[in-house]
Amino acid sequence: MKDLWIAGLGIQTAAQVTREVEEAIRASREVLYLDTGVATRPFLEGLCPRVTSLYEQSYSEERPRVGAYQHMAACVIEAALDHPPVTFAIHGHPLVAVHAPFLVLELAKALDLRVAVLPGISGIDTILADLRIDPVVHGVQMYEATDLLLRRRPLQPDVPAIVWQIGPLETCLHSMRVSRPERFARFIAHLRQFYPARHEVSAIYCSPHPLLPPTILRFALEDMGEHAAEIHTGFTLYVPPSGSRPVHDWELLSKIDSVEHLRSITRG
Ligand SMILES: C[S@@+](CC[C@H](N)C(=O)[O-])C[C@H]1O[C@@H](n2cnc3c(N)ncnc32)[C@H](O)[C@@H]1O
Repeated sequence: MKDLWIAGLGIQTAAQVTREVEEAIRASREVLYLDTGVATRPFLEGLCPRVTSLYEQSYSEERPRVGAYQHMAACVIEAALDHPPVTFAIHGHPLVAVHAPFLVLELAKALDLRVAVLPGISGIDTILADLRIDPVVHGVQMYEATDLLLRRRPLQPDVPAIVWQIGPLETCLHSMRVSRPERFARFIAHLRQFYPARHEVSAIYCSPHPLLPPTILRFALEDMGEHAAEIHTGFTLYVPPSGSRPVHDWELLSKIDSVEHLRSITRG
């Protein structure tokens, strides 16, 4: 038995909730959730007698997001100590680009609470499906947009790139304000070191509801600022490769279809 589940709700709540997540919520005495989907509350209320939204009570406009994460973690731990088991249910996958669950895991460990993490369908899954990408063929590089700039992380132009959180670029404060084109200037300049100005990229917001299509904005890298007003906090940037990497290991290439080579590296 668990005291606490940290569970993912998927990108399309209700439609993408896994059976194990649904079972955890049914078995919980309270579900505390972080998801702004319109169907989320009624869906959770059908499964659990006590449903608490953490979003409105945690975030304040122009205040550091880290304060919200601490508040959420405190609420979840308090509930798990007071009336276990409880579920902390989070949009997408619960450990992808969310800090509060990691605070909860640390506190739970210190307090000897029994915790399980249940995965959910993440933005990465729906992006791959909507853009028809196999991340294994050429690999994939993924970064958080502001972190990319802070550390001046290099990009490999022959590997597909997925950049998270382009909407809240250059701030750790919570804000629902609409971006100006200037917000993307530093970001474009950084990517321009690795990609041509006219390289076509896609800002994507995968559909939050089965009846709605995804929103995909395609534009040349240097024109990203023109879409500033449309790029809200739910968008991710996909940068396709601008070139390919040639094979270097010709000796290995000559062996990968060889039975003799296969036998030399296997038993039986
Ligand atoms: C706070 S993170 C949460 C991610 C979430 N836990 C997940 O597993 O996808 C929010 C970021 O995830 C990405 N994201 C969330 N929902 C998305 C969607 N519907 N389509 C595309 N990207 C999404 C965006 O980069 C957004 O800025």
